[in-house]
Amino acid sequence: MKKTVLAKPTKEIMQKAKELILSGEVVAMPTETVYGLSANAFDDEAIKKIFIAKGRPQDNPLIVHISSMEQLEKIAYVTPLAKKLAENLWPGPLTMVLKKKDCISEVVSGGLDTVGVRMPNHPVALELIETCGVPLPAPSANISGKPSPTKATHVLDDFDGKIDLIIDGGECEVGVESTVISIQEEHGDNNGEMLERITILRPGAITANDLLEYCDRVYVGNGVLNKLDENVKVQSPGMKYKHYAPNAQVIMLDGNFKEFCDYVYKNADENTGVLVFENEESMFEDIEYVYTYGKEDDSLSQANKLFDVLRQIDKNEKVNKIFARMPKKQGVGLAVYNRLLRACGFKIEKLKNPYIVGLTGQTGSGKSTVCKALRDRGVAIIDCDKISREVINKAEVLEKLADYFGTGIMYADGTLNRRELAILAFSEEENLIFLNSVMYPQITKVVKEQIKQLKENGENIIILDAPTLFESKANVLCDKTIAVIADKEVRLERIVKRDNITKQEGKIRMKAQHTNDFYTDRCDLVIENDGDLQSLEQKAVRVIDSIKQEIQEKAQI
Ligand code: TXA
Ligand code: MG
Repeated sequence: MKKTVLAKPTKEIMQKAKELILSGEVVAMPTETVYGLSANAFDDEAIKKIFIAKGRPQDNPLIVHISSMEQLEKIAYVTPLAKKLAENLWPGPLTMVLKKKDCISEVVSGGLDTVGVRMPNHPVALELIETCGVPLPAPSANISGKPSPTKATHVLDDFDGKIDLIIDGGECEVGVESTVISIQEEHGDNNGEMLERITILRPGAITANDLLEYCDRVYVGNGVLNKLDENVKVQSPGMKYKHYAPNAQVIMLDGNFKEFCDYVYKNADENTGVLVFENEESMFEDIEYVYTYGKEDDSLSQANKLFDVLRQIDKNEKVNKIFARMPKKQGVGLAVYNRLLRACGFKIEKLKNPYIVGLTGQTGSGKSTVCKALRDRGVAIIDCDKISREVINKAEVLEKLADYFGTGIMYADGTLNRRELAILAFSEEENLIFLNSVMYPQITKVVKEQIKQLKENGENIIILDAPTLFESKANVLCDKTIAVIADKEVRLERIVKRDNITKQEGKIRMKAQHTNDFYTDRCDLVIENDGDLQSLEQKAVRVIDSIKQEIQEKAQI
């Protein structure tokens, strides 16, 4: 057990830090992002002490901190874009992954042939690197998996008795770790000009927009917003490990403040806490554990507070679940979201329900034309006719129908003779009622499953294309209902052509259908089809645009 000293960076303390590092020990130093656990880059035994103290997997490489461009050239191959970035954005919260030179051992690089390098923008860190005269690899000074330290006391919490010295440089200015990037420089196909591209492996305070000033394109690595499969080879090993999670389970709620409050009131118990934005606390007087992390519209302030508050939550043994407000993902917000997502173990609850528009009308009215026009514009459609065709082939459904209508509705191979069933079903009202009583519950079940899936995919508007919207009572699922109607003659002509049936069969089907009034009385909106398909499509698009606007206006309130 060591005696850990936590002290301000006086002359004596900086001298002591230098002696410790040059004699192969580990020292915690402040940087503008988070505190780092530093040691001599060229002393493998010292570097191993960092891995042991943190409990860090050996394949997770360290970021090497430097204080001059000479040091950069000494440890890595510097490409033209890397040079440009270094000159413009260093010292600062940017780590570049570059091809390493031999002086950087595999202990530092985690076995990779690259090295992450950064020049921190903190006077204490820069002075320490300079006085030691060697680059200092320094991972964040936390036990692996815990939130990174933004105060010297956080480091003490994790490493008391394990390291000799923590230099106290006050609270870290940024609060989340540096942006880690890889650089791709290739000759393009056309005139061989140099394409300069950057991939963000870990987002931080240097944003995609900041980087775009110096290159053609910036990509966001696939580990930034998504959970990576354990076995996948990743560009940045750190992205695959569990991170930042406090003991309590954190769940990010994706919705506006009102939706957040409603959800919390319905789902919180006495061991539940909330993590909200500043000035929102007063809405949670009934909740005992209320934590905040910065202002809603100020991502930097969120970055600043997040790790500290996650550490506070970790210390509270009474709270076992935390509902957290979701940060914006723009700019520095992407870094905040990325860290909170990991603290949540990727658990997000979507609160926003998609807006569901029921679309109905008689057969031949032009409903399919409307749907196609909307689908072409990217609107999600649930096709109840299609679901019905799938459901009707289920063994349990076929059995019930054959019991009632007789085996004449089946072909010899046991499959359904749809035409025969249609003739029987439409010939008497009672038959149609029976058919529907078998089909509707089955269809509704599938519709609900599809809505859930589309919600998870992030759709915020869904068209429920349902010829029997009201008969099946699926209208109760809808926020708005729309009818497509057309005159009898228009409809008859369309269905005879479409289904290749006689006029007589067409008339029988139409007789079983409702009048236009049935729809105009029940629906919120009506689209009339006068036979001109182009104008029908235009009407459909106008209606959906007005619904989109309505949704947007509601969201702003
Ligand atoms: O702001 C920061 O970067 C802080 C302060 C102390 O400078 N340091 C820090 O280090 O966050 P650490 O070790 O906690 O995180 C380093 C991240 C890890 O995700 C690691 O996998 C990635 O950078 N990394 C380091 N070297 C790499 C390399 N050669 N290739 C790909 N990723 C690398
Ligand atoms: Mg770390």
